Amino acid sequence: MTQKTIELIDRATDRKVNLPVHPGTIGPSVIDIAALNKEFGLFTYDPGFGGTASTDSRITYIDGDAGVLLYRGYPVEQLAERSTFTEVAYLLLHGELPSRKQLDEFTGSIRHHTMINESLLRFFHGFHYDAHPMAMVSAVVASMSAFYHDTMDIYSARQREIFAHRIIAKIPTIAAAAHKHALGQPYVYPRNDLDYCSNLLHMLYAVPCEPYEVDPVAAQALDLLFVLHADHEQNASTSTVRLAGSTGTNPYAAIAAGISALWGPAHGGANEAVLNMLEQIGTVDNIPKFLAQAKDKTSHVRLMGFGHRVYKNFDPRAKIIREMCHKVLARLGRSDNPLFELALRLEEIALQDEYFVERKLYPNVDFYSGIIYSAIGIPRSMFTVMFAIARTVGWVAHWAEMISDPAMRIGRPRQLYTGPTRRDYVEITKRA
Ligand code: CMC
Repeated sequence: MTQKTIELIDRATDRKVNLPVHPGTIGPSVIDIAALNKEFGLFTYDPGFGGTASTDSRITYIDGDAGVLLYRGYPVEQLAERSTFTEVAYLLLHGELPSRKQLDEFTGSIRHHTMINESLLRFFHGFHYDAHPMAMVSAVVASMSAFYHDTMDIYSARQREIFAHRIIAKIPTIAAAAHKHALGQPYVYPRNDLDYCSNLLHMLYAVPCEPYEVDPVAAQALDLLFVLHADHEQNASTSTVRLAGSTGTNPYAAIAAGISALWGPAHGGANEAVLNMLEQIGTVDNIPKFLAQAKDKTSHVRLMGFGHRVYKNFDPRAKIIREMCHKVLARLGRSDNPLFELALRLEEIALQDEYFVERKLYPNVDFYSGIIYSAIGIPRSMFTVMFAIARTVGWVAHWAEMISDPAMRIGRPRQLYTGPTRRDYVEITKRA
């Protein structure tokens, strides 16, 4: 089969260039513009990367118009209903669902890498009590490179695997320590007999003076949220991990860069921002006033948890979480949650508003996730940390895919320069 090409003609000189078109297995094809600079001396210009594929990848597929999300080909709805976060982690990292033996080995390895070096634990003492947990988590993850020297050879498949297991196993321990530091409570050590999310809840809520029993409803809800947050192709934080990792930096530094990128309210920080917004709105009567502000471009106010760069129909994750909200709140005996009622009304009103309809703005994954997190007792400042724990799996899968590709190059975008043209230095006494 001949390869499809797109012919580009420079009308001024009549020069032509044929740009190859690469098909994917599903989804839009891409135009390979590598020859454009060589032949025409031109770059492409795409601020915000709205129409640019930065890489090829076999991990996650999104169809934004149809509201489809596939991990390694499997629909997220099926995984949410029938799988677990640990199994999804294996799938994202290895490309296939595990056999029983593979899953047991993988789970066992994750469960036995949960402790962090005691010196690393002492880092938390250096933070003020009111430090945002994302600041602590990103700093401590970056610092892991100073402790785990035996996983620094990024070109060793075995070392990459040990790194993957370590970071996935230890990030809940780091997250829980950040929470305990903020509370002024002693750190709680992991319990390797518990599953991933039960262990996280244990480390977040147990105290030395009384027994703590993990609520299985809370653990299940968290596990489902983690499945939904595990990966989302080339989003801002994953692209950050890839860009940082493409320099050959150590993997802990690359993941810490991703955590920092996730923190922003346009990305993973939206879950915290949604609850702040709902509290600020307060009652249903105030919704129209708030929406008027969100539509006013001069206000810098946005309807948090609404809109997505890729989803222009609905976010399949939001649909699952919305249903889950009803069930979890009922099972935890909190079905009269006023913020959930407010969120439902806000969604209903916004979805009928011409501004949001015209722009195809729908609730995204973060619109309802904060309500579930608060129902299971997770404090607001920890919401984005929860997202980071789940997304670590996706970041690691993308980093490993990139590093194991022999064609990997450093990521280095170009620019359209609009500054001053060349000019000569002027002595300070002669400046106007
Ligand atoms: N509230 C009000 N207006 C909005 C919103 C919003 N939430 N989102 C987009 N718009 C408007 C925007 O002003 C623009 O209007 P116009 O065409 O008149 O200039 C139009 O819709 C297109 O928006 P955009 O900013 O060009 O879209 P984008 O793809 O660059 O941004 C987004 C996507 C998610 C950053 C944005 O929708 C947003 O800020 N949403 C609120 C924050 C949020 O919920 N983020 C979580 C994203 S999902 C979790 C994750 O994976 O990160």
